[in-house]
Amino acid sequence: MAQASPAEEQERLRAYLTQRRAWVESALATLPRWQQAPADRLTEAMRYSLLAGGKRLRPVLVLACAEALGAEAERFLPFACALECIHTYSLIHDDLPAMDDDALRRGRPTCHMQFDEATAILAGDALLTLAFELAAEPMPGVAAALAVQMVLLLARAAGMEGMVGGQMLDMRAENREISLSQLQKLHACKTGALIQVSCVAGATLAGADAQMQSRFAAYGAAIGLAFQITDDILDETGDSHLMGKTIGKDRESVKATYPRLMGLEEAGRAAAAQIERAEEALQGLSEAADPLRWLARYILTRRQ
Ligand code: IPE
Ligand code: IPE
Ligand code: MG
Ligand code: MG
Ligand code: MG
Repeated sequence: MAQASPAEEQERLRAYLTQRRAWVESALATLPRWQQAPADRLTEAMRYSLLAGGKRLRPVLVLACAEALGAEAERFLPFACALECIHTYSLIHDDLPAMDDDALRRGRPTCHMQFDEATAILAGDALLTLAFELAAEPMPGVAAALAVQMVLLLARAAGMEGMVGGQMLDMRAENREISLSQLQKLHACKTGALIQVSCVAGATLAGADAQMQSRFAAYGAAIGLAFQITDDILDETGDSHLMGKTIGKDRESVKATYPRLMGLEEAGRAAAAQIERAEEALQGLSEAADPLRWLARYILTRRQ
C-alpha cells in the first residue's frame, strides 16, 4: 500500500483518537464508583480534575498497544482508566504550591486553586487509590494471575522507582546542574514510567510473550522520554491557551530540562531520535500497529 501523506496520516490519527478518547471519556465519567460514593467535596474535586479534558494519552496507549496485537481492547478500559486516574493525581500534586505551584491545568484553575490545598492533596490520594480498584477489576478473558501481575507493574511504575521517584528527582534538581544521564533518568521516571507501563500492560493483556513485551517496553520508554522532552520544549515555545497550562514555568523555577541542558534545537533532535527508536521497536508489526506509529510522530509535532 502507498505510504500515507503526512496530512492523511494526521487525519487517520485524528479519527482514531476521537473514537478511543470517546471510549475513555465515557468510561471515566460513568465509573460505577461515582454512584456509590457520596457526592461530596472530595468526589467533586476528583471529578473536576479527572473530567477536565486532557489528551488521554496513557489510556489510549493501553488500548492502542492491545489493538496492535489484534485484541479487542474495549474490555481493557478499566485498566486504561486506572492509568488516567494515576496520571491525573500526579498532575494535581505536581501543581501544588509545595511542588510546581501552578494555577492553570487543562484549561481550568488547578485543583488547589478551585478548591483548597487539603482537598487537592486528598483528591490526588483518592484518585491514586481508585486507580488500584479499577486495575483490580475483573476483565473478560484476563486470568487472575495476569491481572495481579499487571497491578504489580502499575504499582512499580507509579511509585518510588517510577513517577513519584522521578518527581523527587525533579524537585531535587531545581537550581542545580545535572548531567544528561541524570536528566534522562529523571524524565524516564517522572513521565516515562507511566507511559511505558501503559504500553507494556496493553500488549501483555493482549497476550504478548516476553519478547514482544520487551519491544513494547522499548517503544514506551522511547515515546515517554520524547514526550517529556517536547513538554520541556513547549514550556518555552508553546501556547498557554492550547496547552491549557502556564508556560515559562520551568525557566522561572530553574528546572532541569532538555532545553536548559542543550538548547532548544538539540532538544528537538534528542526527541526525534527517541521517535526513531520507537518506530524501530515496532518494526515487523502489522498495520494494526499503525496508530502507535502515528502517535509516536504526533508526540514530536504536538502543540498541546
Ligand atoms: C502533562 O501530561 C505532564 C507530563 C507528564 C508532561 P499530559 O501532557 O499528558 O497532560 P494531559 O493529560 O493532556 O492534561
Ligand atoms: C510533570 O512534569 C510530570 C508529572 C509526573 C506530573 P511537569 O511538571 O513538566 O508537567 P507540567 O508541565 O506541569 O504538565
Ligand atoms: Mg513538575
Ligand atoms: Mg509541573
Ligand atoms: Mg512541564
